[in-house]
Amino acid sequence: MSDQKSHGDYPVCDIDLFTPDALRNPFPHYQTIRDLGPVVHLSRLGMPAIGRFLDVQAALRAADILISGEGIGFNEIANHQTPERGVLTSDGERHQKLRGVLARPLGPGALEERRALLKSLIDAQVKSLVGRETFEGVASLAQHLPLKAVTLLVGLDEKSRAKMLNWASAFFNSLRPLPEKAEDLTLELRADLELLKDLRAFFSSVDPAGLAPGSWSAELFDAVGAGRLTDSEARGALRAFVLPSLDTTIYAKANLLFNLARFPDEWRRLREDRSLTPIAIVESVRHSAVVRAFSRYAAEDYSAGGVFLPKGTRVMVMFGSANRDERRYEKPELFDVSRNPRDQLGWGTGPHMCVGMHLAKLEMELLLEALLDHVETIEADEPTFGINAGLYGIDRLPMRLH
Ligand code: HEM
Repeated sequence: MSDQKSHGDYPVCDIDLFTPDALRNPFPHYQTIRDLGPVVHLSRLGMPAIGRFLDVQAALRAADILISGEGIGFNEIANHQTPERGVLTSDGERHQKLRGVLARPLGPGALEERRALLKSLIDAQVKSLVGRETFEGVASLAQHLPLKAVTLLVGLDEKSRAKMLNWASAFFNSLRPLPEKAEDLTLELRADLELLKDLRAFFSSVDPAGLAPGSWSAELFDAVGAGRLTDSEARGALRAFVLPSLDTTIYAKANLLFNLARFPDEWRRLREDRSLTPIAIVESVRHSAVVRAFSRYAAEDYSAGGVFLPKGTRVMVMFGSANRDERRYEKPELFDVSRNPRDQLGWGTGPHMCVGMHLAKLEMELLLEALLDHVETIEADEPTFGINAGLYGIDRLPMRLH
């Protein structure tokens, strides 16, 4: 599967992380890559990859050298599709400015005010499912809250909701490596790129006058009125509220539900001691990290785990692999609610660390609390794992709540 020929200073490996099988179960491949060395050249991708915990952590924190401003995907169309850089793909002062706008409503204090509203939504949903025959948990439980939350908090209309899911999924999927010649693009990738055009048209056409007063999007255009943001920065921020907030939280919840069903002793421990709830959430994001990997571009020479990467290198930084590194976590394949992996990298680290983390945690916490309030046992049948190139998680989960 892999060979040990050296590429510069580091080993070469021919694993393809983007085949459907590897996307459904990437963990054995992650382990091979970690075991080969701190940096491994992935010959199919044509790029070095960093997979060990400490090296991924250091790479994400070295954001002035390993920059995001040249894009974070694995193909040049995705990396250069918008002339104006958004928060995820900017550096330095511009990044700080855009991040500041998003961080305010997404801070723990501001979100606490929304807790009661979100709690009532998820509580009613869980109660309606207890005791039912087998139901599909992703559509019924995992998707329910983020979609409602995005339309209510961001203030976009209900009509755009279904489209948003498609856009969010296309956005992450489009980061995958593309075939060299455009005519070789598969139908699926063409469809993703079309959806992204649709998405850009939608956000360019949002009429500030039609936005729900007091909503996050209305606040963005108030900032335009006050001269703190340009119109296109506000539209970019609006995209940043929507695109990275849907599939990520949906997969994180689906993965949490499956972990609770698959590790019944951990569910029992939670029922005995509810103070473990916040830990269980972080542990599930560690165990089943949703964001697989992004790329970074070396604006200067960089040393990863002692391996030299020259200026101009694009490198894969593997969040999902880092979280399963046995050098950092004992028996990383186990979901263990006593582990408390505070440093886990499922939300990243450094300047680009997820700005929506508190919302994601709140949504997961409310789901878990509602389950603890109303459910004794959680059962799940075999899940269907998704093959989105950017995100790891479960697409369908037949389950029962007793
Ligand atoms: C469990 C759910 C989530 C996961 C696993 C997740 C994961 C991540 C990760 C790994 C990054 C770092 C990217 C990098 O280093 O390049 C990130 C950044 C980001 N996330 Fe999340 N995210 C989640 C939920 C959300 C939500 C709910 C929102 C918005 C409401 C959001 C908005 C963002 C934004 C705007 C960034 C870019 C931040 C920056 O570049 O400064 N995310 N997320």
